[in-house]
This record gives sequence, C-alpha cells and structure tokens, in this order.
Amino acid sequence: MAFFGRSKSSTGLDIGSGFIKLVQVDHSGDRPEVTRVAIRPLLPDAIVEGEVMDPSLVARTVKELVDDSGIRPDGLVASIGGHDVIIKKITMERMAEDDARQVLPFEAERHVPFDPQSVELDFQILDPEGDGAKMDVLLVAAKRDLVQDKLALLSDAGLQPRVVDVDAFALHNAFEHNHPEVRDGVTALVNVGHEMTNVNILVAGIPILTRDIPFGSRRIREDLQRERGLTAEEAEEAVQGRARLSDLDAFVDRGVEDVAMGIERAAAFLMTEDSGESLGRVFLSGGGARIPGLAEALGRRLGIETRVANPFERVPVRPGAAEPLNLDEAAPMLQLPLGLALRSP
Ligand SMILES: Nc1ncnc2c1ncn2[C@@H]1O[C@H](COP(=O)(O)OP(=O)(O)OP(=O)(O)O)[C@@H](O)[C@H]1O
Ligand SMILES: [Mg+2]
Repeated sequence: MAFFGRSKSSTGLDIGSGFIKLVQVDHSGDRPEVTRVAIRPLLPDAIVEGEVMDPSLVARTVKELVDDSGIRPDGLVASIGGHDVIIKKITMERMAEDDARQVLPFEAERHVPFDPQSVELDFQILDPEGDGAKMDVLLVAAKRDLVQDKLALLSDAGLQPRVVDVDAFALHNAFEHNHPEVRDGVTALVNVGHEMTNVNILVAGIPILTRDIPFGSRRIREDLQRERGLTAEEAEEAVQGRARLSDLDAFVDRGVEDVAMGIERAAAFLMTEDSGESLGRVFLSGGGARIPGLAEALGRRLGIETRVANPFERVPVRPGAAEPLNLDEAAPMLQLPLGLALRSP
C-alpha cells in the first residue's frame, strides 16, 4: 500500500525499434509484483540500427502508450544501449568506493576509446570483500549525447525518468531474479530483438562482456519478402508463428548462423582474456526468441543447452495486469523492461 501518495512502484520503459514496452512493478510488498504490462508497435523506420530517426514520432508513441496504460509515470526507469555504451571488466588498485570514483576518469581513459570529456562513467566493484592489492571493477562508459538524447526524447513525451540504466544490466537483472540458481560457469544471455541481438556474457553470474550483433526478426521478414515474394504482413505472420511456412527453417538458419558466430566470438575473446571456461549455456529473450525453430536451431548449431528465458518464472504478475495481451506470448519481449522495473525506488 502506498501511504501519503508516495509511489512504491517502478516502471521500466524499453523503446525498441519494433515495439515500445512498459512494465510496472510494485515494490511495497514482501517481493516485487508486476502490476501493469503494456506494449505498442512502433511505425517502421522510426528507429533504425539503434538510431532514433524520427524523435517526435517515437515520443508521441511513448506518450500514447503511457496514457493508454493508465500508468502513473513517476518512478520511470529508462535505459540506453548499443555500441556507444561500453561495459568492461578492469583491474585496478584496491581502494574504497569513494576513492575509486575519484580516479575513475583516469582509469577509464586507458580503457575507453571515447573522448573523456564526452562520457558519463559509472562502475561497480565486483569483489568488494576481496583483500588482494588489486580489485576487479565493472566499468561502464556511455557517450553523454546518448543520455541527453534519451532525456530529450522522454521530455518530449512529457516524461522524466528517475533513473537511466543500461540495457545489458536490465537484461541481467531480470535474469537474476528468475534464475538465481544459475551462477556457475559461463552463461550467455542473448536478446534477439527486431533489429539487434544483444549478447551478454556472465561469468559466475556476473556480466563481464557485452556485444551487439546486427540481426533481428526484421531481417527474416525482409528476406521472406524479397526471396519468397510475401507481403510484409504475410512475412511477419510467419515470423511470429501465426502462419506456417514450410521452408521458414532455411531463413531462420541463416540468421542463427550470424548469432552463433557472434556468441562464439564473444566467448572466445573472453577465454583469451580470462583463460577461463568455455560457454556452458544460453538463455534467449527478446521477441526474436519466439520465432518458430530459432531457439532449437541455435542450440543445435552451438551444441549447448539453449533455453528461452521466462521473465515471469519467479516474478509474480497480478491477475489482469497484462490485459489485453497474451502474456505467455509477449513474455520474452519483456525481459528488458521488467529488469528495469525491478530496480526498487
Ligand atoms: N508472438 C510475437 N509477438 C510479437 N512479436 C514477435 C512474436 N514473435 C516474434 N516476434 C518478433 O519480435 C520482434 C519484437 O521483439 P523485441 O520487442 O524484442 O524487439 P525490439 O526491442 O523492438 O527491437 P530492438 O531491440 O532490436 O530495437 C517483432 O518485430 C516480431 O517480429
Ligand atoms: Mg529490444
């Protein structure tokens, strides 16, 4: 219950190139509960390859979604991602967190290929209990423009976020809430979206490497249009599994090959850096995880256990919260906004 009108809710907002997604989580009880889910498609080409081409259209769509959902937009958590956000595990002299914050800009200069004047930095000490001379730190650097553009877009939609998080951390956060048992070895979280696939490699449960692969459901749809002469609608029906297409597998396999290579490359990079274990399992999310046959094909190609993550496996959803959506169908697309909303106020 919210006393004195103070909201104990967080709302995650994920602005994807295919769909805009909102998930509201109530944090006032013993454990977080999803109280509202809403999604809305974005018109084609408003966002292309992570770049917002038509900010006013995107802002309008966000505003319509928020208004229609009935969500009070305080406690909004937005996020940034893509290649202008760098996440890197670094090693530095052990020191207190406040001291680390002071020296971070100098450390970052050695690790981040951006102009230090134009980046926002954040970090997390990965082994705060350690007592060695060195400590492991997860460094996050984002181009300041990226943050400012996001804030400007939200402001056009009449919104002011409480927090701007990072996509990869939100995906990981949702995963941790639902699969706390998966902490050993190397795990890849793979979010297959409309245009982009984000790969997030976890070692012992900690995200230490992210990569973006330029593949998404859009590519399969466009291949089907070009090579099979389908209309955009017919192709999308097949991609979403609403219409059966006998040779969809061949189109899926091509995309899977790109995703598999991206995952393998990231895992190989990690092995040379950390001389650690090889990849143990893959958890898929994003709307692309629902493309018929994709999860199975990726598992076969990689030769390792590949599952579709369910963001609501251990996070309860209040009855009716997702109306009129079919939550089982939409669930994989909600991994990112749920992860944002799980940040408690
Ligand atoms: N049952 C389904 N319902 C909706 N979309 C589906 C379904 N199955 C597959 N998809 C595909 O998933 C895509 C949306 O996935 P998602 O919301 O993860 O992408 P996005 O976040 O908008 O894109 P990106 O992150 O690449 O910008 C749709 O464009 C659609 O082609
Ligand atoms: Mg997405």
